[in-house]
Amino acid sequence: MSEGLIQVEGLSKHYPPDVKAVDDISFTIQPRQIFSMLGPNGAGKTTTVEILEGLRTPTSGTATIFGVDVTKDYSTLRDRVGILPQSFEPFDNLKPTEAVQYWAGLYDIKMTKSQANFLLERVDLTERKSVLSRNLSGGEKRKLGIALSLINEPELLFLDEPTTGLDPKARRDLWRLIEEIRKKGTTVFLTTHYLEEAEKLADDVAIMHKGKIVARGSPHDLIARYGKMTVIVLSGAGSEALREIRRRGIEATEENGDVLVPVKDPTEMRAIFQKISGIELQAKDIYTRRQTLEDVFLNLVGAKMDEGDLKP
Ligand SMILES: Nc1ncnc2c1ncn2[C@@H]1O[C@H](COP(=O)(O)OP(=O)(O)OP(=O)(O)O)[C@@H](O)[C@H]1O
Ligand SMILES: [Mg+2]
Repeated sequence: MSEGLIQVEGLSKHYPPDVKAVDDISFTIQPRQIFSMLGPNGAGKTTTVEILEGLRTPTSGTATIFGVDVTKDYSTLRDRVGILPQSFEPFDNLKPTEAVQYWAGLYDIKMTKSQANFLLERVDLTERKSVLSRNLSGGEKRKLGIALSLINEPELLFLDEPTTGLDPKARRDLWRLIEEIRKKGTTVFLTTHYLEEAEKLADDVAIMHKGKIVARGSPHDLIARYGKMTVIVLSGAGSEALREIRRRGIEATEENGDVLVPVKDPTEMRAIFQKISGIELQAKDIYTRRQTLEDVFLNLVGAKMDEGDLKP
């Protein structure tokens, strides 16, 4: 494989006495991709990202970006990297246009008002450009954060949970924006709790759990490798039906009263339906669905990732 834009080797971050926030991980990220690091609370995502941003020192291992060691020469990377931290709060008393101009100044970039507004238009904040930042909604604040992270036209952009806590429309707006950013040639390192988000956006996914990378690949590869592409759902069929189905030699599981029959090969579908059709079923509904990254995640770490896992 060619040299990656990010190369991480044996990276660990331990907090004494016994927290292994990141535990010996290695990965390579290719340019111009959206790489998504997926994992539940406390998996080690932010720790990894902040090491790559030069903000935390690893206990051991190495990490390079564009061939530069992040622990030694971060200043040489600063102009090429953009960052949206997990806990981003914009400057309360500045309007978005002013915030962009101020932030540009920190990069020694002189930005006129109209240049700042052009950037705000890119993140769809034109209508809110003159409102004090403290009065922006959560999604608008996140868009402003992304605008600030784009000021230096970065080749690599870190977005740490950019859509957590946003409503579905705001999330979709940000997805579109992230896709546009990638189309312009920027590599995106995105952390998320949302499997749906990784599935929609990412070319390359690493599932992280308890400081380790437990799976790696494209969403499609992960589903093919760890999931079972399609599943027949016998909604509300219950354990009686499960027993009957298994008695006929068909692999099946039960989840919340639904019986799930995995179909590993689409050509098996007809035979499975024929076997099932002989059973007296009390199912409320029968349908097929494609397996998702969530199924992969559940198979791998047995943890349920839903809104309830999220921090406020
Ligand atoms: N400075 C610190 N001292 C001690 N433990 C820490 C410190 N920073 C992080 N940790 C621990 O390291 C683990 C990983 O934390 P991290 O913030 O990287 O997780 P995360 O995957 O980003 O989670 P979230 O999805 O909640 O943001 C957690 O158990 C956390 O409590
Ligand atoms: Mg985090």
